[in-house]
Amino acid sequence: MTDTPPPSRYVWLDFNAPLSDARARRLVERLVHPAPATVLDFGCGWGELLLRLLEAAPGAVGTGVDTDGSLLARGHAAAVARGMADRVSFVEGPAATWREPADLVVCVGASHAFGDTADALRALRRAVRPGGRALFGDGFWERPPTPGELSRMWPKASADDYPDLAGLVDLAVAAGFRPLWVEAASPDEWHDFESGFLADREHWLLEHGDRPEAEQVRASVERHRARWLRGYRGVWGFGYLTLGVPSAPSAAG
Ligand SMILES: C[S@@+](CC[C@H](N)C(=O)[O-])C[C@H]1O[C@@H](n2cnc3c(N)ncnc32)[C@H](O)[C@@H]1O
Repeated sequence: MTDTPPPSRYVWLDFNAPLSDARARRLVERLVHPAPATVLDFGCGWGELLLRLLEAAPGAVGTGVDTDGSLLARGHAAAVARGMADRVSFVEGPAATWREPADLVVCVGASHAFGDTADALRALRRAVRPGGRALFGDGFWERPPTPGELSRMWPKASADDYPDLAGLVDLAVAAGFRPLWVEAASPDEWHDFESGFLADREHWLLEHGDRPEAEQVRASVERHRARWLRGYRGVWGFGYLTLGVPSAPSAAG
C-alpha cells in the first residue's frame, strides 16, 4: 500500500482535443446561428465546449453523453459553478444508444463511439433536426503516412485509419450534410494539446519520481511522447467541420 496520490487527469487541458480558445470562440459563434433550442454533445468528456455553447445560446438546454462518469462529474461541477446546472444534463452511457435528436449536435474526438468515421457521420446526421447544425471534429491524414511513421504511432496504426481532409468532407456530404466551414488544428494547437495531455504525469514525476510506481508512469509518458514526436506529429491532422442540415427533407443533397 502507498499513500502517494495518483497523477491528476486532464487538469492542464480545457478541451480533450487540439482546440485553442480562439478557435473554440469562432466555432461557438458560428454554431449558435440559427439559435438552437437543444444542444447534444456525443462523447462530451467534461463538457467544456457544450457549456460554452449554452453560454452563447442562453435559451438552449443541453445534454452531454459520455461513458466516463468521472469526466461527467467534472462537467457537472463546472455547470454548477457557472450557474447552468438547470440547463445541462450529463448522461453516463454509450453515445450510440442515444435516440433524442437536437438542433445542434457536437461530436469532437469521439467518432469511435459509433464505429468508423462514416458510421459516426451517419449517426450524427440522424441526430440533427431539420435545419440544424453539427460540429464534427475528427482525425485525418495531413499527407499519406510512411510505413516507418505508422510503425511509430499507435498499435496497429494503418493508412486506412483515416481519410485525408478532402475525404473527411466527402464522408460528411455522403452522410447528408452540407459543409459550412472546414478547418483543421494548427501545429500550435497540437503542441498545446499533447503537452497538456502529458503534463499531469510529468508534474507528478517531478514530485514522486523516486516511488516504485513511478517506473510505470515514466514509461507511459515516454511511450506516448515518442508516438507523438517520432510518429504522428505533422502527419495526423484533426479537422473541425461545421455542418448544416437542410430545413426540408426534400432539399437534402
Ligand atoms: C478525445 S475525448 C473528447 C472529449 C470531448 N469531446 C472534448 O473535445 O473535450 C473522447 C471522449 O469520448 C468518450 N467516449 C469513448 N467511448 C464512448 C462511447 N461509446 N460513448 C460515449 N462517449 C464515449 C471518452 O470517455 C472521452 O471523454
